[in-house]
Amino acid sequence: MLAGKTVLLIIGGGIAAYKSLDLIRRLKERGARVRVVMTAAAQHFVTPLAAGALSHEPVFTELFDRAAEQDIGHIRLAREADLVILAPATADRMARMATGFAEDLAGAVLLAARVPVLVAPAMNPAMWAHPATRRSVATLKADGIAFIGPMAGAMAERGEEGLGRMAEPTEIAEAAEALLAAGGALAGKHVLVTSGPTHEPIDPVRYIANRSSGKQGHAIAAAAARAGARVTLVSGPVNLPDPAGVEVRRVETAREMLAAVEAALPADAAVFAAAVADWRVAAEAGQKLKKDGNAIPPLALTENPDILAGIARRVAGRPRLVIGFAAETQNVIAHAQAKLARKGCDWILANDVSQDGGDQSGIPGGVMGADRNAVHLVSAAGVEDWPTASKAEVARRLVDRIAEALDRQETLGRQENP
Ligand SMILES: Cc1cc2nc3c(=O)[nH]c(=O)nc-3n(C[C@H](O)[C@H](O)[C@H](O)COP(=O)(O)O)c2cc1C
Repeated sequence: MLAGKTVLLIIGGGIAAYKSLDLIRRLKERGARVRVVMTAAAQHFVTPLAAGALSHEPVFTELFDRAAEQDIGHIRLAREADLVILAPATADRMARMATGFAEDLAGAVLLAARVPVLVAPAMNPAMWAHPATRRSVATLKADGIAFIGPMAGAMAERGEEGLGRMAEPTEIAEAAEALLAAGGALAGKHVLVTSGPTHEPIDPVRYIANRSSGKQGHAIAAAAARAGARVTLVSGPVNLPDPAGVEVRRVETAREMLAAVEAALPADAAVFAAAVADWRVAAEAGQKLKKDGNAIPPLALTENPDILAGIARRVAGRPRLVIGFAAETQNVIAHAQAKLARKGCDWILANDVSQDGGDQSGIPGGVMGADRNAVHLVSAAGVEDWPTASKAEVARRLVDRIAEALDRQETLGRQENP
């Protein structure tokens, strides 16, 4: 996902420019804000009006634009983006780019950009194969510019075929996501997340469960993946799609969740967002319990393994950062502080599930299943009250904090062991 990211799309003057209009939509549906720059040649193929209507933003075409220079400026245009995409990249543009020309807005922006740049070339196969283009591409690659395509296939020119087609908009959007993730704050880290409820069987058809929807845990896994982490999500039974780019292990019971968590270690950080059942039925019936005339079966319970404490108290293979969740209905902070000490984890994210989660349902426990969450981050350093926000926003904030904490540990480690 490109949620919250700004992509600056530079449309060049090739016949494939029409595909870049679709690329605007593909980027926006992934959550990106898209700003468009069009070259003079591009405007022979598609109009700024179409690009503006699709991006919902003004389109920039002129370097010497007084209004834009006062308000935006070509340098700011480059700096305010998280990623620049050049699509289609013409042979001419790549040659100018490799030389460092900045005679128009696209050139100036490309030269001023300090963020990742993704180039999607599109041209006739003879132009692509020409030694001059080969030199441009080699120079740009050495400068750290990322490429997607060109692809093989039929050309716009009648009867011509070969290497030179622009990559499809979906492929370019996916490459953009991968490029941003690779440079993300959690690149190279493994993050383990648990999510959802557990189901503890009574007999083959009945089980004990809780109201957890898995929305918060899944949002954390998705946010960690967007930040470039390798993410393993161990999920109890939920009604949610698998987050993109995340390895999902599905489990039913607490014991299965523990086994999947142990199998997924080592991890740099572990976030235990699942609402694991504290107890399970001591003797699960092998056959469905029958009502007819029998006495009501007593449900003797036994304790489930404590996954959070078990991992947090490990001596070998403990993730560097272990984070638990506490769903409380009263004395939220006091209970969370006690849980932090009892479990031996680094942080507890505590929420008051007696509130309705902002879904206006008024149902106690409404946070479970709602889309918003009000949490407190409880650690040895103190208590932080986070404002009520969407579960996606809470996840983003938590992931930023995880990245900061891991970075800090690495810096301290380097200083201690020079
Ligand atoms: C009909 C037509 C189609 C063109 N298609 C391409 C193309 O696919 N790839 C390319 O590199 N140049 C193509 N060109 C040439 C470019 O438009 C030209 O080199 C221009 O200077 C590129 O400028 P820009 O990169 O600033 O947009 C085409 C030209 C015309 C007239």
